[in-house]
Amino acid sequence: MRTQVGIVGAGPAGLMLSHLLHLEGIETVVLEARSRKHIEERIRAGLLEQGTVDLMVETGVGERMKRQGLVHHGIELRFGGRGHRIDLSGLTGGKTVTIYAQHEVIKDLIGARRAAGCQIVFEAEDVSVHNFDGSAPGIRFRESGKVTELACDFIAGCDGFHGVCRPTIPTGALTTYDRIYPFAWLGILAEARPSSDELIYAYHEHGFALHSMRSAEITRLYLQCAPDEDLNKWPDGKIWDELQLRLAAGQGWKLNQGAILQKGITEMRSFVVEPMQFGSLFLAGDAAHIVPPTGAKGLNLAVADVRVLARALADYYATGSRELLARYSETCLRRVWKVQRFSWWMTSMLHRFADENAFDQRRQLAELDYVTSSRAAAQSLAENYVGLPME
Ligand code: FAD
Ligand code: PHB
Repeated sequence: MRTQVGIVGAGPAGLMLSHLLHLEGIETVVLEARSRKHIEERIRAGLLEQGTVDLMVETGVGERMKRQGLVHHGIELRFGGRGHRIDLSGLTGGKTVTIYAQHEVIKDLIGARRAAGCQIVFEAEDVSVHNFDGSAPGIRFRESGKVTELACDFIAGCDGFHGVCRPTIPTGALTTYDRIYPFAWLGILAEARPSSDELIYAYHEHGFALHSMRSAEITRLYLQCAPDEDLNKWPDGKIWDELQLRLAAGQGWKLNQGAILQKGITEMRSFVVEPMQFGSLFLAGDAAHIVPPTGAKGLNLAVADVRVLARALADYYATGSRELLARYSETCLRRVWKVQRFSWWMTSMLHRFADENAFDQRRQLAELDYVTSSRAAAQSLAENYVGLPME
């Protein structure tokens, strides 16, 4: 079996890369460990930056998102029991963000790839990558018990944080930078009408809470919890009471409740590996970096990486030049580190830390007060939130 670019992982990074390369006339095969059903139902991120939305529309996979996505012009920061709106559009020359679930993006991309005849191998077992420091890179995998060797010119490691590609790179070739936060998020999906038209990021004495949504009928909510939190200790009633308390804002506001459809814990970490390439193996998305979800950046950063990679590969196949490929990591990392900074900053401003003291709390409140009362500070938040320029 042979292809031009072998892609490991059918998350947003792998599928978008396959899609972008197809538009450049470059052939790919995508190998995914899980079933199609599993990845089309996996509840994850939900907020798309302006640039991600534009890319989906421009490349012909944005039709359903345009119909079903919820366009947001602002967000609210809530603290001291009061809401403060950040006018994202007004502060960024009209840019917006769109609520559209990650698994819907996955469905749209799989639909487009399949319609174009792309081979996506689901439930690929024992995937391993070889010879990427030499001239004959290859991927070995098992499908329905049969071992297959896929020869390719390049390998894209789009297999997420727990994938095989990054650990296969020789130790010593990569430097990792990370921070693990002393808390996690307990997230729920609820059959309840959103209680606000916009997202609400709340700072409360009990910890952070976030009100988001998926549709006019479905609310997505998160609350800060311990990193090793036991979900069994959170019956539905306790989750609602805590959300109600942390999101409270005066008399007139009440959180709509409903049946909880799904519950989960998301760990929080910041992680970057440098460089994001080794020989003809290129890492993209969560395989190369993780951000805490407070800035809603994970999916968007994965898409930004593969945009750079697709352009570099297209340039190579068109001209034979490896110049853009050689600069792939450096180009991505400039943006990655700015997004890391923003995600860390939002996280630090909005969460309670176990080792904090009264000074830290006053400082956090001053930061929130500043960001919601200074146009310059609000504009900085807004330009990062809607998404920094792609390159
Ligand atoms: P992934 O989406 O992880 O895709 C990698 C793919 O590779 C997966 O389909 C995996 O099955 C496959 N794979 C792994 N190992 C192998 C292997 N050995 N062989 C073949 N295939 C393999 N971001 C936000 O902005 N907001 C959120 O609320 C949010 N919630 C999240 C909740 C969870 C539980 C997780 C894990 C992430 C969340 N994120 C969130 C982050 C966001 O979803 C990711 O940043 C995004 O999915 C990155 O896309 P990716 O394609 O790089 O990786
Ligand atoms: C979500 O809707 O899942 C979501 C939105 C914003 C975030 C994180 C998650 O910052």
